Amino acid sequence: VSARATDPLAAIAELAGAPLRRGLEQVELRLREIAGKSAPARETIEAGGKRLRPLLVFVAGMGGQDATAELVRAAVAVELIHAATLVHDDVLDAAPLRRGRPTVFASGGRGAATATGDLLFSRAFAELARNDSAAQLAALSAASTALAEGELMQREDAWRVDVPVSRYMLRCELKTARLFEAAIELGRLATGGPPLGRFGVGIGLAFQLLDDVLDVSGPASRTGKRRGTDLLDGTVTLPLIMARERDPSLAALDLRDLRDAEALCDRIVESGALETARETALELVAEAKQALPARLQARQRQALLAIADGVVDRYA
Ligand code: IPE
Ligand code: IPE
Ligand code: MG
Ligand code: MG
Repeated sequence: VSARATDPLAAIAELAGAPLRRGLEQVELRLREIAGKSAPARETIEAGGKRLRPLLVFVAGMGGQDATAELVRAAVAVELIHAATLVHDDVLDAAPLRRGRPTVFASGGRGAATATGDLLFSRAFAELARNDSAAQLAALSAASTALAEGELMQREDAWRVDVPVSRYMLRCELKTARLFEAAIELGRLATGGPPLGRFGVGIGLAFQLLDDVLDVSGPASRTGKRRGTDLLDGTVTLPLIMARERDPSLAALDLRDLRDAEALCDRIVESGALETARETALELVAEAKQALPARLQARQRQALLAIADGVVDRYA
């Protein structure tokens, strides 16, 4: 909870006014109801998180009025898909920590984590089905398919230190950016708001790039995850790809032999690759802002620009 209060994205929700705040409160209540009696599902929801995707649904779909029940259900559904994905992602990545707490995988094992992810995932679609919109279901199922494809691609590319940047970017688009895009699309579909073009994909990509930077930069006290988690499970991300281009001594690196992830993180930092990766993310955010359609309500434009900056500020 304290992490949320200091998060720039939480500050945006404050600034955006009472209707949006009330909408997010309704999302929280409904998420807790839906997690219901399953302890790991409840713990997953109660561990918090930034609720960035519900925020996107609301900003894409809300005028100055209170959110409709339909919009709240769309926001809840997107967050449930995200939560389900994280629980499953932590199985795939064998991750010990998430949001500063042991993952379901670490505390309950593979079976519990698989079942908990499946529960959250199914309840996401059950919630969205109540909106009676084939278009909304199509948008969310396309994004969750992309997500699964991105995770599969990450497994296929595991340990491949020579993965091309283009393939890395495609993986980020599939596993992260498409859900951002779907959040915006659901907001639009539920309320008849304007389309926002490539904005969602652009900030989604930047978000994943910066997450990958944070995995290397740490510290764990800030990320809620151990430093170098990606490297340890063979996930090759932009910082390492760029460090290998700069530091020839990294050319022969085999991640399977990695003993000291901290030390490799330090070498990546020393190569200057984190700055370059960060700059790439900043460019994507700048392009996303530019891609916003010209004819938007001033208030909505302001909120979207603030979210784009918030994505970056989290990592400043
Ligand atoms: C984490 O997403 C997974 C990525 C796409 C990098 P978030 O950083 O939005 O996770 P929470 O919900 O705030 O914990
Ligand atoms: C993002 O990938 C998770 C999904 C989009 C499924 P990561 O594996 O980088 O996310 P974290 O670092 O575990 O949060
Ligand atoms: Mg992970
Ligand atoms: Mg990560």
